Amino acid sequence: MRLSVIGCGYLGAVHAAAMASIGHEVVGIDVDERKIASLSKGDAPFFEPGLQEILSEGLASGRLRFSTDMADAAGAAVHFVGVGTPQQKDGYAADMTYVNAAVDALIPHLAAGDIVAGKSTVPVGTAATLAERVTPTGATLVWNPEFLREGWAVQDTVDPDRLVAGVPAGADGERAADILREVYHPSVAKGTPFIVTDLATAELVKVAANAFLATKISFINAMAEIAEVTGADVTTLADAIGHDARIGRRFLGAGIGFGGGCLPKDIRAFSARAEELGRGESVAFLREIDAINMRRRDRAVDLVVDAFGGSVYKKNITVLGAAFKPHSDDIRDSPALDVAVRLHGLGAWVTVTDPEAIENARRVHPQLNYVEDRDEALRAADAVIVVTEWDEYRRQLDPAHAATLATGRVVVDGRNCLDADAWRAAGWDYRGMGRP
Ligand SMILES: NC(=O)c1ccc[n+]([C@@H]2O[C@H](COP(=O)([O-])OP(=O)(O)OC[C@H]3O[C@@H](n4cnc5c(N)ncnc54)[C@H](O)[C@@H]3O)[C@@H](O)[C@H]2O)c1
Repeated sequence: MRLSVIGCGYLGAVHAAAMASIGHEVVGIDVDERKIASLSKGDAPFFEPGLQEILSEGLASGRLRFSTDMADAAGAAVHFVGVGTPQQKDGYAADMTYVNAAVDALIPHLAAGDIVAGKSTVPVGTAATLAERVTPTGATLVWNPEFLREGWAVQDTVDPDRLVAGVPAGADGERAADILREVYHPSVAKGTPFIVTDLATAELVKVAANAFLATKISFINAMAEIAEVTGADVTTLADAIGHDARIGRRFLGAGIGFGGGCLPKDIRAFSARAEELGRGESVAFLREIDAINMRRRDRAVDLVVDAFGGSVYKKNITVLGAAFKPHSDDIRDSPALDVAVRLHGLGAWVTVTDPEAIENARRVHPQLNYVEDRDEALRAADAVIVVTEWDEYRRQLDPAHAATLATGRVVVDGRNCLDADAWRAAGWDYRGMGRP
């Protein structure tokens, strides 16, 4: 099938390349000329495992191309819209400027029978409003929310755990659902759940999923706060409650909390939208989820400061990690970088290392010292703090070796990902999150 993908960021670039990899003819469109130039040359503009390979293959096959000209979307049977929906600068609601601009630019190029499939995460009600503008062209607007996880985006796009299609009632909606089934044929053929629903439910599924995941993380971080004043160990607690199949162990890792380009802004936008709908109280708990999450960053900073008796002034602090999570170079609302910047603000000399995110981090926070080589970064450190649980730090960093490089012996485990016993045995003063 001929497809267009409007917006070629973390979602759209992966979607375009993944759709080409399963046999479709795809044009990716973005207003960012540098991004399109890079994608057209076969250079992934960000780090995402497996993207480089499917991008190169797609371009070589002739099935994948990129453009800054919206007119190139004409002729596609399905137009996916995956532009950004960041938090507004002056509030918690989602900034819908980009979605509105993308759809308005697309409308003149639509033909009767086309499908416009929204993938961006949007406030419930958006699709119904956009449908009023799209329907007069004879095209059908549907919502097909995206659940990919950065770091696993290619796999999640090619082989998702479920597909959701919000469609209008009636024959147009049924036809649109059939066309999406064709787009996702390999997944549908292998029995991946394909849920057809109305527009509002499809929009809500996405924000509900993110609200639930954020809640699970903040729940265990709230338990960490209680553990900290009682001497309990939150990791043992998580293991013990995680054995209950109704609870499950995943997403119960206490630490410095969630960040990135999705969870924080999505729960805030959900709260803002619920308030607009007169149901603010229904998701009032999300404010608390957000507050717990932000407090964990304070806690990580406090653990470092306390290790030096109340001041990190002129201390060499090595920060292991900058990306908001491993297997990604995404630093949007990264708790790791936030902690690094706060320590710098307290007068510490902060050295940051990360396997993939240094370039992005340096652009936004040039005041920090960046070192590519992990061992070089550890040299002469008075304290070390792990803030992104890359394997390079979690599994591959031998505490005895680290001790030969650092000057001090304080290690703060902001992700509870280190072997505390091994670090202590190597002479380190180990401090975890919610752990004695
Ligand atoms: N990144 C994720 O893991 C993820 C997962 C699921 C859903 N989402 C949602 O997908 C959407 C996109 O997220 P992202 O992380 O890819 O953002 P991003 O910032 O990486 O990419 C957005 C892209 O849209 C482009 N754009 C903006 N206006 C445009 C226009 N008028 N026409 C064409 N292109 C335009 C930008 O130049 C940018 O390249 C958001 O709503 C997000 O919440 C993201």
